[in-house]
Amino acid sequence: MVKAIRVHELGGPEVLKWEDVEVEEPKEGEIRVKNKAIGLNFIDVHFRQGIYKAPTLPYTPGVEACGVVTAVGPGLTGRQVGDIVAVAYAGQPMGSYAEEQILPANRAVPVPASIDPTVAASLLLKGMTTQYLVRRCFKVEPGHTVLVHAAAGGVGSLLCQWANALGATVIGTVSTKEKAAQAKEDGCHHVIIYKEEDFVARVKEITSDKGVEVVYDSVGKDTFEGSLAVLKPRGYMVSFGQSSGVPDPVSLPALQAKSLFLTRPTLFHYTVTQDELLETAGDVFANVASGVLRVRVNHTYSLSEAAQAHADLENRRTSGSVVLIP
Ligand SMILES: NC(=O)c1ccc[n+]([C@@H]2O[C@H](COP(=O)([O-])OP(=O)(O)OC[C@H]3O[C@@H](n4cnc5c(N)ncnc54)[C@H](OP(=O)(O)O)[C@@H]3O)[C@@H](O)[C@H]2O)c1
Repeated sequence: MVKAIRVHELGGPEVLKWEDVEVEEPKEGEIRVKNKAIGLNFIDVHFRQGIYKAPTLPYTPGVEACGVVTAVGPGLTGRQVGDIVAVAYAGQPMGSYAEEQILPANRAVPVPASIDPTVAASLLLKGMTTQYLVRRCFKVEPGHTVLVHAAAGGVGSLLCQWANALGATVIGTVSTKEKAAQAKEDGCHHVIIYKEEDFVARVKEITSDKGVEVVYDSVGKDTFEGSLAVLKPRGYMVSFGQSSGVPDPVSLPALQAKSLFLTRPTLFHYTVTQDELLETAGDVFANVASGVLRVRVNHTYSLSEAAQAHADLENRRTSGSVVLIP
């Protein structure tokens, strides 16, 4: 038996229960991993609330973790007991909020020795998301102006750093002065505190009415319309999350007005094959090693306190990454 967080019914943070669970021996193609640290993601909130559908009830939440391999399935080569690996949910069952978990070996990424497991646990999903957003979904280039909502958040912090390093002018939106200071440190050339200023008017002012090439919008309902309004003609609306709720349906004339591109991407479709997964993770680790990405593990909770961590994340009390320690 190991301890894990279990969800028996959808709802608020109080549905996260600390329980004993059975972890079986790994089967063919699987490994058993003892987690050292677990990354908290807003996606975990979406699953708990039912915005995303968990495959079963009850379920063990969690889509990002780093740990040590404690057993390998029969005949498995390429992974051995003692390896440090990280995982980011990309189609396989969730289950990171546990002291130990079974993983498909081909989705576990080896972690370079230079990267601390706590950092790796908060980096793999958020970093790979950032990688596909700035390198593949829309390719950020020198001279571009990009708008990043929730610029001090887990993904947002990394997005600002990477977009800046690629030579873009970065505009970020945040809720507080403290978050604004962090976003500046992370490479935002302009930070808009959206509670004090209208972000649409301010972006138009900053860009002398030209608008931005791309908006990375993880906030959703509250920002979607304004994000379309600040795009240049032929700009890219990358709507990759919905922390404030799912945006209203979009009408084609709203895109036609400026020949806009709209995409609603997910990490899963950018890490389909093992090669793609390892390449994406490798690019993230390389950018940590070169100093382009500085991971901010700003909050640590014990795993049994996952409910408090969820409450803090969904009430905008966190910045950077949040990690749960088993
Ligand atoms: N599509 C993908 O592949 C993919 C992958 C990873 C994550 N995501 C999405 O990206 C988003 C960010 O994830 P994350 O884990 O990095 O979280 P996060 O950005 O650290 O946390 C959410 C932030 O959103 C802002 N926010 C604005 N309105 C909000 C509201 N009504 N309620 C709560 N927060 C609000 C808050 O920042 P301020 O205080 O500055 O407003 C808050 O701190 C999530 O929607 C997640 O689902 C998508």
